[in-house]
Amino acid sequence: MCVGKIINVDQDAFLDNMSYTNQKRNAGYRAAEYVEDGMVVGLGTGSTAKFVVEKIGERIEDEGLDIVGIPTSLETEKQAKKAGITIIELDEADKIDLAIDGADEVDPDKQLIKGGGGALLREKIVAHNSKRYIVIVDASKMVEKLGVDFALPVEILPRWTEGISDCVRKLGCEPELRISKGKTYRTDNGNNILDCDFEGIEEPKELSQRLASIPGVLEHGLFIDLTDLVILGNEGGFEELD
Ligand code: A5P
Repeated sequence: MCVGKIINVDQDAFLDNMSYTNQKRNAGYRAAEYVEDGMVVGLGTGSTAKFVVEKIGERIEDEGLDIVGIPTSLETEKQAKKAGITIIELDEADKIDLAIDGADEVDPDKQLIKGGGGALLREKIVAHNSKRYIVIVDASKMVEKLGVDFALPVEILPRWTEGISDCVRKLGCEPELRISKGKTYRTDNGNNILDCDFEGIEEPKELSQRLASIPGVLEHGLFIDLTDLVILGNEGGFEELD
């Protein structure tokens, strides 16, 4: 006898996820077309950026594309190596021609929130030092105002967490120490993350500066005036917003 198990599936959520995955793939594959022979390429982190790494790997195999990659996380480094991309460390690079990464939120001025995946510190160093910075997203990431639905990640020294949290709270948010699998989350750099709910960020540039001035804050997820091009994936392809 075959005993069937009834599984309750939220079909709308399932279809939304499928659709977002297609959009991420379309944006990522398009961005990988900007990669040219001889380039040093910053490789972002996350479920959208992984499509860029995948496509670059295919291009290396199919076209003999000759590039060097700088990964922004251990996760990306692992995927890039598997894809056959030559990897170098940040301090081995004398330039970064192009960096491509996902984002958690993008506002109409192309300002970003990043760091949902915890890789914000290396992501920002790479973005800041790259000649061109392309951001790839699905439709769910486009917002009118940053920080309404997404808590801003702030990477802090893993000491004096309470004290640093208090300083961050004074800027008008509720910071929450990131926990993963029942333990304090640690970034690739061994630091902690505070996810800071601002219920909407009125002045992203000003907040960026104020956060950066707090001793113990090592980096935050506001990426201000860094983005050259946003590639927004859609069902049939992509749209470029520059
Ligand atoms: C990693 O720290 C993040 O900045 C990611 O780039 C960002 O969260 C986007 O990730 P997804 O493409 O997985 O949504």
